[in-house]
Amino acid sequence: LTALCKDRMNFRLLTFLNLLLFSTCSSSPPNFVLLFADDLGFGDLGCFGHPSSLTPNLDRLAAAGLRFTDFYCTSPVCSPSRASLLTGRYQTRSGVYPGVLYPGSRGGLPLNETTIAEVLKPLGYATAAVGKWHLGFGANGMFLPTKQGFDQYLGIPYSHDMVSDRSVFKGSIWRRSVGA
Ligand SMILES: *[C@@H]1O[C@H](CO)[C@@H](O)[C@H](O)[C@H]1NC(C)=O
Repeated sequence: LTALCKDRMNFRLLTFLNLLLFSTCSSSPPNFVLLFADDLGFGDLGCFGHPSSLTPNLDRLAAAGLRFTDFYCTSPVCSPSRASLLTGRYQTRSGVYPGVLYPGSRGGLPLNETTIAEVLKPLGYATAAVGKWHLGFGANGMFLPTKQGFDQYLGIPYSHDMVSDRSVFKGSIWRRSVGA
């Protein structure tokens, strides 16, 4: 995230992308960042050949990393596809389907599901979720990323356009550590 911020990554891009940042002090295991975007088509990025969209920061990440040309999403909507991405399981197994969570919804990604962050933490990784979570809020934030293996979370729990009154998000954009 530091590197991205130094490059003045467009804030709007940050809000639309859900950015999961993993970093470690050791040089052996690789650091990795998963970017998960709403409403982004396969061909919308410069590194995938878009003729006029300018995405220099993502293009540079792609050039220095791996560019995957075949990726299959388990669902066309947000919450279920995020549940699958983080757990490696079909959303029908975690129950986060068929639709998305709303501010009035109950529940979230069940806490007994194992997320990629929970797999990496014992290996020494520091983990963070940045951006839209959309896998539940719950009583006292019990379904937020910091309860699912992420050390840090800076983001919003639902889509930015799910409420007309933005004050609902007041206090939802924060950073805190596990156990804090
Ligand atoms: C989590 O708990 C629910 C309810 O007991 C159960 O149906 C589900 O299989 C559990 N999931 C995992 C991954 O253990």
